Amino acid sequence: MSIWHVTGGRPLRGRIRVQGSKNAVLPVIAASLLCPNETELTNCPHLSDVDAAVDILRYLGCQARQEDVLSIDTRSPSRCDIPKELMHRMRSSVIFLGPMLARFGEAEVSVPGGCELGKRPIDLHLYALRQLGAEITEQENAISCRATGLRGAEISLALPSVGATENAMIAACAAEGSTVIYNAAREPEIETLQEYLRTLGAEIHGAGSPVIRVTGFSPRSAAGLRVPPDRIAAATYLCCAVCAGGEIRLTDAEPRHLTPVLEALHKMGCAVSAGPGEIHIAAHGRPHAPGAVVTRPYPGFPTDASPLLMAANLRTAGTVMFIENIFESRFRHACEMQKLGADIILRPPMALLSGVETLHGARMFSPDLRGGAALVAAALGAEGESIIADLGHIARGYDGMDRCLRELGAEVWMENLLPDEPV
Ligand code: UD1
Repeated sequence: MSIWHVTGGRPLRGRIRVQGSKNAVLPVIAASLLCPNETELTNCPHLSDVDAAVDILRYLGCQARQEDVLSIDTRSPSRCDIPKELMHRMRSSVIFLGPMLARFGEAEVSVPGGCELGKRPIDLHLYALRQLGAEITEQENAISCRATGLRGAEISLALPSVGATENAMIAACAAEGSTVIYNAAREPEIETLQEYLRTLGAEIHGAGSPVIRVTGFSPRSAAGLRVPPDRIAAATYLCCAVCAGGEIRLTDAEPRHLTPVLEALHKMGCAVSAGPGEIHIAAHGRPHAPGAVVTRPYPGFPTDASPLLMAANLRTAGTVMFIENIFESRFRHACEMQKLGADIILRPPMALLSGVETLHGARMFSPDLRGGAALVAAALGAEGESIIADLGHIARGYDGMDRCLRELGAEVWMENLLPDEPV
């Protein structure tokens, strides 16, 4: 358990570098199983989700070391199952299914289960792997996959699922012949995965569009990649600047991946400018209402940035409708924000926010990764001290969020409690 102490009312100033992307690196770590040698990932963020993915690789008999660079040696894996405890540490562990099938021809895992955001089915992942020739049995909470030889196929996803697209791309690399994935997710993280698979020698085209074509191949001996900037972490710090007021510059950012977020901030009256690798924001006074915030698959407004934009709008002069189209329990942070004095009416999948003039410090409980970060952001704009109890959610996705905010002048400190210490 971590306890965040945030004292609001201090404008943010300065510059910080955006961390490497969590959602880009996790599928690449899983895909490294395809490599019969070593993978080197630079700009890999230090996150507990990265640790969980690395622990899965180690359990499978691979070696990994993270200092400045994450070095993975996948020369001699020794097993093809993932135990329940490891599967449950990270919802994205399901992304190991495709790579394990590709490398070993079999995989035994447990169902990753639901999560804080509601039901998280994996039917599309299993459909894609079955299309490629995998025989899959599901018994209670266990999933067994076998393939005596994967073969190229047409895969039409009913929804553009990010994880199912990634699993299909990776497994298709080991299939005989060509695979076409229709209605593929178009998120930038899919392009990163394509880039990594190409360094292994894959013939793969179309990432970033709804149709991806993969031709099976024999992987080359070593691979590497620089992890791109994390677009949601960038959105987080921009929203923190709106909550606290001030002027900050993000370096090593990718503004092209943040178009709907930057547009919303612009409509809120913030001065946002972007150049190659940089985003600058100046936010003073109460924001204006940006209109409805409707989450959609990329290139639409990202669901992961919705809690952050809600935090940034708590003191808006006007009302803002949030409509969530991706996850059923996306608004759990809203009840906590009400403790700060926020005016939010919840009618999932909608939330109607009416901006208030002032917020006051409160004790809150972080409900999930982005919701937790949004509470920290909201507390920066509240008078007095807030305390946020967090069961390790924020560390899953942010590399030193407290340090970054302090570098920008915020009064934030975080203590890690032992499991039985009182909050
Ligand atoms: C990824 C991101 C997550 C982000 C989400 C949507 C990672 C590690 N996580 O999650 O941060 O919020 O994309 O941009 O990259 N669905 C099904 N069946 C399936 C798979 C998904 O019905 O088999 C549904 C989900 O319940 C959800 C929607 O499809 O409603 C989108 O989910 P998906 O794109 O798969 O998200 P993730 O890959 O889990």
